[in-house]
Amino acid sequence: MKKTLTVALPGREYQIEIQRGLLDQAGERCRALLPRARKLAVVTDSNVLPLYLERTADSLKRAGFQVLCCSVPAGEAAKCPEQLVLLWEKMMAFGMTRTDGVAALGGGVVGDLAGFAAATLLRGVDFIQIPTTLLAQVDSSVGGKVAIDLQAGKNLAGAFWQPKGVLIDPDCLNTLSDRAFSDGMAEVIKYGCIREREFFELLDRCGSRAGVMDYIEQVICTCCDLKRQVVLQDERDTGLRMTLNFGHTIGHAFELAGHYETWTHGQGVAAGMNWAAQLGVGLGITPPEVVEQIRSILNKFGLPQDIPCPWETMTEAVGLDKKRTGDSITLILLERLGQAVPRRMKKDQLLELLEPMCGR
Ligand SMILES: NC(=O)c1ccc[n+]([C@@H]2O[C@H](COP(=O)([O-])OP(=O)(O)OC[C@H]3O[C@@H](n4cnc5c(N)ncnc54)[C@H](O)[C@@H]3O)[C@@H](O)[C@H]2O)c1
Ligand SMILES: [Zn+2]
Repeated sequence: MKKTLTVALPGREYQIEIQRGLLDQAGERCRALLPRARKLAVVTDSNVLPLYLERTADSLKRAGFQVLCCSVPAGEAAKCPEQLVLLWEKMMAFGMTRTDGVAALGGGVVGDLAGFAAATLLRGVDFIQIPTTLLAQVDSSVGGKVAIDLQAGKNLAGAFWQPKGVLIDPDCLNTLSDRAFSDGMAEVIKYGCIREREFFELLDRCGSRAGVMDYIEQVICTCCDLKRQVVLQDERDTGLRMTLNFGHTIGHAFELAGHYETWTHGQGVAAGMNWAAQLGVGLGITPPEVVEQIRSILNKFGLPQDIPCPWETMTEAVGLDKKRTGDSITLILLERLGQAVPRRMKKDQLLELLEPMCGR
């Protein structure tokens, strides 16, 4: 069953379409979204290319598009200035004009990179997201944040650039590795924790990758809907949008502890949610049973509850956290399952609570 959500940003309204097999209709959908475009640059990566590019490009050509295929090496390293310049040059050599468009066919890396290319080429051309990882389908393709990484850190050069549409084909998830799937599940579980207890309970009942796939349209739709609400209330990354950072402050410390290689973002967030729940209990905000519920669901989806983190790394990560201002930090805690609250606290107080958890 097809599901459609409208992100009603004033003047930049767009739809998120979720349907199995939607990739084969990419052409007609993109034609409807970009009626004046003649050329479409499809950005993908070296893993997605052999799986889905031909089908997508064929559909686009049938709809009358001239298609340029741009593939980048799979992996976070492609989200870099060098690849961005290559894309710009290829797109201009292809003869793109301001009425043409860019489509991202891939995970969050491709979406962020292609989106930033679209935001900047000719001062901005139309952009369509065709996310193929769970993380990209439930998180990165919605909200309009696009970016590349710099030597100084992740996502440091970027823009807000809303897509003209988001085309989600859940069947693409069948080829994902288990690791990439559970990585996305961390964010899915996060939505349950911060916004909707019933959704958390549905995921808990599904209990496995196969179980979630039976409800995948509903799962993706719920996540996109929750992210949409947050984006609409708060497009510029403050207030409510901050609750999406649940598990992320401490998760970043874990990612850093593994030098961004040992642990994926989702694994860091998973353990970060468990730790944030424990901190909430310690502060008298989170009911103790929530910790058990979170630990149990993480276990079901093959996500870590704890990640070893040297004390120096924890202090560094908390100090570097972008949500920090001065000597205070805003941590997202759970008042109950399904209800997140931002809590400002002194950095020192947070570190005091974390010290015993880091085994000091
Ligand atoms: N813009 C945002 O709001 C936002 C939000 C969260 C994350 N992000 C960004 O997203 C990126 C992570 O995204 P990701 O987890 O999708 O990583 P990714 O794009 O690297 O994809 C993960 C892996 O899966 C492969 N892959 C993609 N689709 C596949 C498919 N259908 N079948 C088999 N393999 C497939 C990719 O080639 C890659 O090897 C990070 O750069 C992060 O900063 C952005
Ligand atoms: Zn995240």
